[in-house]
Amino acid sequence: MSAHPITRDSHLLDPGFELTLRPMRYPKFYEMYRAAIRNTWTVEEVDFSLDTTDLKSKMSDADRHLIHRLVAFFATGDTIVSNNLVLNLYQHVNSPEARMFLSRQLYEEALHVQFYLTLLDTYIPDPAERNKAFAAIETIPSIRQKGEFCFKWIDSIQDLQRLETREHRRQFLLNLICFAACIEGLFFFAAFAYVYYLRSRGLLHGLASGTNWVFRDESGHMAFAFDVVRTVREEEPDLFDDEMRLQVEEMLEDAIACETQFAADVLSGGVAGLSVNDMRQYLEYCADQRLVQLDMPKKYGAKNPFDFMDLQDVQEVTNFFERRVSSYQVGVQGEVAFDQSF
Ligand SMILES: [Fe+2]
Ligand SMILES: [Fe+2]
Repeated sequence: MSAHPITRDSHLLDPGFELTLRPMRYPKFYEMYRAAIRNTWTVEEVDFSLDTTDLKSKMSDADRHLIHRLVAFFATGDTIVSNNLVLNLYQHVNSPEARMFLSRQLYEEALHVQFYLTLLDTYIPDPAERNKAFAAIETIPSIRQKGEFCFKWIDSIQDLQRLETREHRRQFLLNLICFAACIEGLFFFAAFAYVYYLRSRGLLHGLASGTNWVFRDESGHMAFAFDVVRTVREEEPDLFDDEMRLQVEEMLEDAIACETQFAADVLSGGVAGLSVNDMRQYLEYCADQRLVQLDMPKKYGAKNPFDFMDLQDVQEVTNFFERRVSSYQVGVQGEVAFDQSF
């Protein structure tokens, strides 16, 4: 491992562990790191107290099945993303300022793991039931299938130590695109949709408020990954040919199929106002968004079927302010009962 002098011909994916921050080659990655630091939150700020009442007395068996499947996915989702970040991304993105962002992302993924750990501990008080939820990646087929999709793509480049050839770089890009567009951008976005659907029925306020912050973090992770892709495309345009586009489309198609079979399980009890077809359409809508973020043409032409997710797009922008308000609400709750003041 040695530092290489930066030359005008250096590329982001050139093998190595660059150390030089000045002159800074990719200031935009440093700015993304700083923006992420400004958005710091903690799990302790999330108030789950109303959620437990909702789960016990306001939800049907079908709703509870939905939430059990959802938290079982959350039990391992962010750990898988963290592992890929450490094993496959940090190694190959050769810029110290970009690695600062990835370090921050790793912290945020740990925060998400902590959030979902706390969620499962709160929602599933029975230890045997709880252990089952944590084992879901092995035991519940609809979750196992999503896990296998992730592991296949982690394994696809795990033996790659250095991106020496064009083919290596394409393999790396596919892994990066998979984790941003399919895992963060489809699996997690579908999960958020279930949460916001429940919020639209006035349910699980604690989960929804924590999800606002996770949603914002994930949007930042995707924006960074897509910026890495854009940078590589500018530096090495010949990596992006029709074959690459077709591989990305196929990967999105696989991810949509995986998430749709999960939806069939999640919604198997019959949840009013939410169908497998709606969810599939939402996934196609998200996939089109990801293709646009990758500067590739849309494939599905699907409209967002979920009004409650339109609201979320606006909230993402106002989250910073909302956060202040919700922190304040937690502060006053002891004196002014929530129900009385609204
Ligand atoms: Fe995450
Ligand atoms: Fe993430």
